[in-house]
Amino acid sequence: MNSFGRIFKISIYGESHGNQVGVLIDGCPAGLAISKDDFTGDILRRKSGAKGTTPRIEDDKPILVSGVFNGFTTGAPILISFQNKNTKSDDYKDLFNFPRPGHADFTAKMKYGGYNDYRGGGHFSGRLTLGLVAAGVIAKKLISPVSVNARLVEAGGESNVEKAIDNAIKNEDSIGGVIECRAENVSVGLGEPFFDSAESLLSHIVFSIPAIKGIEFGSGFLAAKMFGSEHNDQLIDASGKTLTNFAGGVNGGITNGNPLIYRVVVKPTSSISKAQQTVNLKTGQKEELKVKGRHDVCIALRVPVVLEAVTAIVLADLMLLEQKLPRVISDKSAR
Ligand SMILES: Cc1cc2nc3c(=O)[nH]c(=O)nc-3n(C[C@H](O)[C@H](O)[C@H](O)COP(=O)(O)O)c2cc1C
Repeated sequence: MNSFGRIFKISIYGESHGNQVGVLIDGCPAGLAISKDDFTGDILRRKSGAKGTTPRIEDDKPILVSGVFNGFTTGAPILISFQNKNTKSDDYKDLFNFPRPGHADFTAKMKYGGYNDYRGGGHFSGRLTLGLVAAGVIAKKLISPVSVNARLVEAGGESNVEKAIDNAIKNEDSIGGVIECRAENVSVGLGEPFFDSAESLLSHIVFSIPAIKGIEFGSGFLAAKMFGSEHNDQLIDASGKTLTNFAGGVNGGITNGNPLIYRVVVKPTSSISKAQQTVNLKTGQKEELKVKGRHDVCIALRVPVVLEAVTAIVLADLMLLEQKLPRVISDKSAR
């Protein structure tokens, strides 16, 4: 459904052109200092407006509906909502019968019998990642001094991202990208050997981000071309530090104390200005589609902060499970 996590549990809700989007966080310990300003930096990094992103700009002001009192988390569920104010839903009305190739218009209509809110991609919109980013702000605070950083490595196959974006805009097209995410100071012992391996949990939540097409940890697909003698990460001290990090910080599903490193592939945006072929679902006939609305040329530009958020969410959950969370919280009743 729309929830993830066992102790630090998040549920995201909303639609692109509905009243709100947001996140409900259950299981966050009491006593963590939170203010609205804490959200500003990460929300700005997800925001649109730069070249290659959608011209739809929202103010993205977080409303802390519950679970925060006098500047601290209370231990009760935290609901954070964001209003949608800048919507132009008319641009989407044709998509009900003319599904965009590559988007969720067709699958959503089939699965929900046409009751799905299709405006702006509805519940399938990248706008839902705002709730993830908000939960990530809280998770990042909880797991500190573990730090998580992600960066765009390439877009459209080019390390010169601007050039690739200019080219895509000129061709009325879109491009994808590769993002690397890295978590430092991760302790040894997070994750389970099989279904809840650190890689499985991260992959699970990473594939919940719309438009992600692939993930690789450490050496990833390159490992297939290496010898064991090259790929084996040599231990250099008793804390588990290794000379190389082809494992990406995980062995046997369990974090090994080295930086956790993974890369993801973001696909090119399906909504492009160029004419495409689709099928008119009313008549069953093939027809040309010119997608209207406001869209990102390169979604990958906005995804690094979302990856940081989901990584922090997984780490917060695992650290709570293993009781490895630093003691951020001082007991108020003792004062
Ligand atoms: C931050 C972000 C922004 C996005 N912006 C757009 C967009 O402007 N236009 C679009 O067609 N898809 C956009 N998407 C992708 C769609 O939400 C996604 O492709 C769609 O839900 C189908 O899911 P899938 O690509 O995972 O199969 C965006 C995704 C993210 C994470």
